[in-house]
Amino acid sequence: MKWKRILKWSALAILVILFTWFEFVYWTSTNNCGRSIPSGAERMKAIRYCEYGSPDDVLKLEEVEKPTPNDNQILVRVRAVSLRFFDGGMLQGGVGRLVFGLRKPKNTIPGSDFAGSVEAVGANVTEFKPGDEVFGVRAGCLAQYVCVRRDGAVVSKPSNLSFEQAASVPTALVALQGLRDTGHVKAGDNVLINGASGGVGTFAIQIAKIFGAEVTGVCSTGNVDLVKSLGADHVIDYTKEDYTKGEQRYDVIYDLVNNHSFAERRRVLKSGGICVLAGVGGAGLHEETLSHVVGVFTAFLRSRFAKEKFVSFGVTFSTKDLGILRDLAESGKAVPAITKSYPLTESAAAYKYLQTGHARGKIVITVE
Ligand SMILES: NC(=O)c1ccc[n+]([C@@H]2O[C@H](COP(=O)([O-])OP(=O)(O)OC[C@H]3O[C@@H](n4cnc5c(N)ncnc54)[C@H](OP(=O)(O)O)[C@@H]3O)[C@@H](O)[C@H]2O)c1
Repeated sequence: MKWKRILKWSALAILVILFTWFEFVYWTSTNNCGRSIPSGAERMKAIRYCEYGSPDDVLKLEEVEKPTPNDNQILVRVRAVSLRFFDGGMLQGGVGRLVFGLRKPKNTIPGSDFAGSVEAVGANVTEFKPGDEVFGVRAGCLAQYVCVRRDGAVVSKPSNLSFEQAASVPTALVALQGLRDTGHVKAGDNVLINGASGGVGTFAIQIAKIFGAEVTGVCSTGNVDLVKSLGADHVIDYTKEDYTKGEQRYDVIYDLVNNHSFAERRRVLKSGGICVLAGVGGAGLHEETLSHVVGVFTAFLRSRFAKEKFVSFGVTFSTKDLGILRDLAESGKAVPAITKSYPLTESAAAYKYLQTGHARGKIVITVE
C-alpha cells in the first residue's frame, strides 16, 4: 500500500514538473524579431518569419543587419536559394515546433540551399577567396548575405551551372546517399522510385541511371513526360495504376512517399530486396503525412522479421558528396529539373507552391 502511494505521488510530481517545464520553455521561446538594428550597422534584405502561419501572412521582406564573418567563415553574396522538403513544414508550426521553436520560430530567416559568390573571407580561410562562386547548405540563407563555416557544406560552383541550378544541387544528397548507401543500387538492378517527379525524385532517377539501374518512376499524369525526359525507362502514373499490384519485381524501391503498406511493397520486392524509406510525400504537413510516418515505422519494424529489408536513412550534408554531385551536374549527368523560379519579393508564392505537396522538380528563388 505504502509503495503504491509513493508511486502515485511520484508520477504526479513528475507530471507537474514536466508540465511546468513545458510551460516555461513555451513562454520563454522567442526570437530576435523585436530587436532593432544597431545604428551604423550595415543592412541587407532578407525574408523573415517571426510567427508560424501561412506564407502570405508570415513571410516578410525586411531589412536586417548584414552578418560579419568570423575568422573561420566566408561571407557569401547569395544569388539563388532552392526550396526543399524541410522548408515546406517549417512555417506551419505543428510538430515542427519541437524543432524550429515552440511558440515562435527560433531562426527567423528561412532557406537552406544556396548559391552565390564569396564577398569576404575570415583570417583563417584558405579554401576560398573573394569572387569565388560557391554553393551549399546553410540554414537562414534566404537573404542577400549569409556566413558559412569554411569547413561547412560549401563547395565551388562550376562555371557552366547557373546560380539557380547550383542552388538546386544539394537536394540531390538525399537521392545519392539513399540510393548508394542505403539501397546499395548496382548495375542491372531494377529500381522503382515512388515520388519521382519532386525535388528529390528528379535527381533520384538520374542517379539510379548513373549506377546502371533499370528505373521505373511513379508520378501523376501531368509529370509523366518530365520523369521520362530525365531518363526513366518506365513510368507508372499512380492515378491510373498501383505499382504494388503489378507483375514487375524490384531489387530496390526508393520510396519518397510511403503510401503503401509493408505487405503491398514486399509483394513487389525481389527476394532479399531493399525498400529505402526515404520520405513521407510532398513537402509540407498534409492530412496523409501522419499515416505515412506511421507507415515508415511499421514497415521498418515488420521487416526485422523478413528477408526483404525496409531501411530508413537521414541525409548528411557531406562536403565530399556535394563535390560528387557538383561533378555530376557539371558533366550534365545529373542536372536539376527547375520548373519554377520566383524573385525574392515573391517568396510567399514559392512557399505556397511547395506546400501543395505536388511540386514538379525544383523550385528556386532568385536574390537580387
Ligand atoms: N531521408 C532524408 O534525409 C530526407 C531528406 C529530405 C527529404 N526527404 C524526403 O523526401 C521526400 C520528397 O521530398 P521532395 O523534396 O522531393 O518533395 P517535393 O519536391 O515536395 O515533391 C513531392 C513529390 O511527391 C509526389 N507525390 C505526392 N503524392 C504522391 C503519390 N501518392 N505517389 C507518388 N508521388 C506522389 C508529387 O508528385 P505528383 O505531383 O506527381 O503527385 C511531388 O512531385 C519528402 O517526403 C521528404 O520526407 C527525406
